[in-house]
Amino acid sequence: MFPLNRWYVAGFAWELADKPLARTLLNQNIVLFRTGSGEVAALENRCCHKSLPLSCGTVENSGVRCGYHGLLFAPSGACLEVPGQERIPVKARVRSYTLVEKDQILWIWMPQEEGAAPTCEAPDYPIHSDPRYTFRGDVFHYDAPYQLIHDNLLDLSHLGYVHLKTIGGNAAVHMNAELKVEAAGDQVRVLRYMPDSVPPPTYLGAWPFEGRIDRWQEVEFKVSHLNIWTGGADVGTEDMNDPQRGGFHMRGFHAITPETDTTAHYLWTMAANHHPERANVIDLVYEQTALTFYEDKVVIEAQYENMKKHPNAPQIDIHVDVGPNRARRVIERLIRDNAAPAAALSAAAA
Ligand code: FES
Ligand SMILES: [Fe+2]
Repeated sequence: MFPLNRWYVAGFAWELADKPLARTLLNQNIVLFRTGSGEVAALENRCCHKSLPLSCGTVENSGVRCGYHGLLFAPSGACLEVPGQERIPVKARVRSYTLVEKDQILWIWMPQEEGAAPTCEAPDYPIHSDPRYTFRGDVFHYDAPYQLIHDNLLDLSHLGYVHLKTIGGNAAVHMNAELKVEAAGDQVRVLRYMPDSVPPPTYLGAWPFEGRIDRWQEVEFKVSHLNIWTGGADVGTEDMNDPQRGGFHMRGFHAITPETDTTAHYLWTMAANHHPERANVIDLVYEQTALTFYEDKVVIEAQYENMKKHPNAPQIDIHVDVGPNRARRVIERLIRDNAAPAAALSAAAA
């Protein structure tokens, strides 16, 4: 169901304070925690003694202590202590996952083979430390499969229908926007430009636009997450090919981590620059973004509920589906590639 041997987002740095956090990721029951000495860790969320979730326990300097009979587990999964007993049973360990904290993002390596080491570095997200931006974020839970969220983010034509109160705008302008889709390797880019548009409410709240604006939306799909750069500048003042262009910028980090086959975590941050004559607008941008994403959640969950009522009903494609369809083909290929070695092995064994 999911591409493996890659980094997924398990959470954000600020979620790990002094308590362990239970989170199911790709059908795996995981506990995330930060030790008292600051190390982040991910373990199977099941004590190997009597199966209490380790997320019911407590965090200590060297690991997490089970809340039932006090076994202490290190970030490696090894049992460090059995209270009242000197000998630690050989099998006293729990599965561990590689968890990396980078740019305030917690990246977890999800291997095909249990315990396999990462084959590449965790992705960078330099926007979180770029002094031009401030950001806030949140984690939403979706009662819908992860690819419906990809579809939504790779097709921003829905802004004019779903997000009229915030980042929307004229629906016809959105549906007729110039659209370019590029694919390279596992990545898909969807570029949309809407010159000479009316600024939507969030933009007006954040930036002193006086008239119409040139808008851009650049979506980069990277399998486990998407980076979406949107913004606007006074008409004719900025070159849309210049990556350093001015104007109002919103930089979205959107990680879609499957929880189960039919549910997902949506872990997002939104970064914005602010106009020199305005106070920092990140709280406004955050609130409007959260409202916007909640609107998406309502639509996508309603869509999935209905899909369940009509499991075999065909769907049609229209012009806005090019980006989502490309991304779906990437996911299909990656899942096929993961399955290939296993299929070859079982054929050889037969
Ligand atoms: S269930 Fe964890 S120590 Fe007994
Ligand atoms: Fe949306």
